[in-house]
Amino acid sequence: MSLPKACIFDLDGVIVDTVDAHYKAWKTMADELGVPFTMEDNEHLKGVSRVDSMSRILALGEIEKTEEELMDYTRRKNDIYLEIISKMTPDDILVGVKDFIQLLIDNGVEVALGSSSKNTPTILKAVGLDKTFKAVVDGNQVTHSKPHPEVFLKGAERLGFEPKDCVVFEDAISGVEAAKRAGMKCIGVGEAEVLFDADLVVPDLSNINLDTLRHLP
Ligand code: BG6
Ligand code: MG
Repeated sequence: MSLPKACIFDLDGVIVDTVDAHYKAWKTMADELGVPFTMEDNEHLKGVSRVDSMSRILALGEIEKTEEELMDYTRRKNDIYLEIISKMTPDDILVGVKDFIQLLIDNGVEVALGSSSKNTPTILKAVGLDKTFKAVVDGNQVTHSKPHPEVFLKGAERLGFEPKDCVVFEDAISGVEAAKRAGMKCIGVGEAEVLFDADLVVPDLSNINLDTLRHLP
């Protein structure tokens, strides 16, 4: 089999190590609201937009808030998150990412980014990857959050490729679903028991090479 024409990467948890920071910020809000919030609950927030995540935490606690209050909690969560990640540097790029992206570029595979995060431009700049991706589609440019396929379909469109020519890298259950719904192959980054709908799961990007991509199930 040949190589895909493009790889589309999720940001949080695939390119950069921000999963803990998101969790801590959500946990602070949940504690304040008296909502029990576990790492497993957090697993289902991965890939989901900021406002949808806040709504899910309120739903977990069966708490009703006005639209204005919801937006206020959402803004405060982001303030906490931004404070935690304010000292991000290129050292926060996850293992294997830079080498794998370079390998793809050297072999004519285009790289794009598809993230739900509205903080994407800030993060890419902080870690020095703001010029790396041929196309960046983030939470500021989509109407529907993952698991809706919009973010990945837009990525393929920007590159001028069909969905079937793109492979997505995702650490989130919602992101794997978004990729599959977009008609793309998906490589899960994380644990196989969690990302069981992915076509293949690797622990991180140092565990993958061009042959893996050529022989995706
Ligand atoms: C996703 C993260 O990439 O972006 C989620 O997995 C996060 O945890 C979502 O809630 C939105 O991010 P942000 O940076 O716009 O709050
Ligand atoms: Mg992610």
